[in-house]
Amino acid sequence: MGKFTDALKKAAEARLSHIEKMDQQETQVKYEFVARKTVESNIDPRIMTFYDTKSPVTEQYRTLRTNLTALSSGSKPLKAVTITSSTHGEGKTISSINLAITMAQDLNSKSILLIDADMRRSKVNRYLGVPVSEGLSEILSGTADIEKGLLNIGIPNLTVMLAGKAPQNPAELLGSVKMKELINKLKARFDFIIIDAPPIVPVTDVGIFGRHTDGAIMVVQANRTQKGVIRHAQGLLQQAQIDLLGYILTDIRYHIPAYIYRYL
Ligand SMILES: Nc1ncnc2c1ncn2[C@@H]1O[C@H](COP(=O)(O)OP(=O)(O)OP(=O)(O)O)[C@@H](O)[C@H]1O
Ligand SMILES: [Mg+2]
Repeated sequence: MGKFTDALKKAAEARLSHIEKMDQQETQVKYEFVARKTVESNIDPRIMTFYDTKSPVTEQYRTLRTNLTALSSGSKPLKAVTITSSTHGEGKTISSINLAITMAQDLNSKSILLIDADMRRSKVNRYLGVPVSEGLSEILSGTADIEKGLLNIGIPNLTVMLAGKAPQNPAELLGSVKMKELINKLKARFDFIIIDAPPIVPVTDVGIFGRHTDGAIMVVQANRTQKGVIRHAQGLLQQAQIDLLGYILTDIRYHIPAYIYRYL
């Protein structure tokens, strides 16, 4: 028993150090587009929509907001979207946060909820610069009520639900009836919900809860994700009966100077 526990512990440690190494590699190879900090905040400078409303990146998120709004119709309202990708590190979390902030900045002042449903590699709290606290995992496992998991981070119209403590069984929790009920309750309470989810190819989580949302957006990292992998991810979404609403392409390098994109 002792040996078995040790082996499990070692495997968990090895997995963690592997994830950390992958994170370092991602940070090393990627071109980081960061904002000049215009206000004092713990929010990561990669959350461009928070710091620079005039940047071309923010403008792209406004276009995404417009496109999403256009997809919503009276007979099929769009109230909850899952942000996923085929593999790790393609930009899901940064895209989810930027989209949530852009939706919250809408002049029609809607109430927006951002949920971190990536309980295996939760990073929303890090990018938002807020401490870890109770969230989705505690709500689904019944040790915290919904109110405890709804955070106000000082951005008007935006509420955040963190992932909570990494559970042993994320797939079981996310696939539970409680998850379906939670999404339905939150849909009745908020105008729009954005769910930062794990990637669909390596883990099963999105396949089991995605259909309780109104569709998925697939984040694709330019010049990295291979066509075959994207097709496989599309097939998995289809099998799971999740509508693929569209794509967000990240890590695009512009060869035209940024000032040409900027209308000041
Ligand atoms: N639009 C973008 N353009 C360029 N780089 C980006 C973009 N979005 C994110 N990145 C970079 O990609 C890396 C991973 O981003 P992020 O954490 O959002 O990915 P993820 O898909 O959520 O990863 P994980 O699968 O680990 O949850 C970060 O270093 C980030 O700066
Ligand atoms: Mg992420």
